[in-house]
Amino acid sequence: MHIHRYERAWLYASLALVGIFFLAIFVAAVAGSIQLPSPQGEVNPNDLSGTDFAKPGVRELSPGNYEAYLVGQAWTWTPNEIRIPEGSNLKIYLTSGDVQHGFKVLGTIMNVMVIPGQVSLVEHEFDRPGEYLWVCHEFCGLNHQNMSGKIIVEPVNETTAALAGEEEQS
Ligand code: CUA
Repeated sequence: MHIHRYERAWLYASLALVGIFFLAIFVAAVAGSIQLPSPQGEVNPNDLSGTDFAKPGVRELSPGNYEAYLVGQAWTWTPNEIRIPEGSNLKIYLTSGDVQHGFKVLGTIMNVMVIPGQVSLVEHEFDRPGEYLWVCHEFCGLNHQNMSGKIIVEPVNETTAALAGEEEQS
């Protein structure tokens, strides 16, 4: 079969584009450590007693290793503040007590849907001290825009404490 010269050139160019796109996804996955959210378990959204969500909050597993359990409910998070020291790895397990919410921590890769009956998990290492705002990114009713919280990463030595202080002032 005869393929015209230009036709062939476009064919190769299209194939090269597909290759470049695949490469871009691969590089982003490795360099940006993409996390694909997957369900971590199921809970009864009407009865969280007897689960880790009965006492939501943050706990230290070992030095520098923290996990938090968070419940989203229109229109608050329990808890709505998490404190960890700089350099800590933080895992957050989330579920919803009513409708579907979203969870995104600005400046990190933490971003997941929060679904009643399901447990979601996000993880991030906080190397820089400061305040990290989180927001609900799924419209969940009248006060959706007020459904926020923050992760406070506390500096562990004087140099980083001074830096964090400067950032807060600016
Ligand atoms: Cu919860 Cu929007």
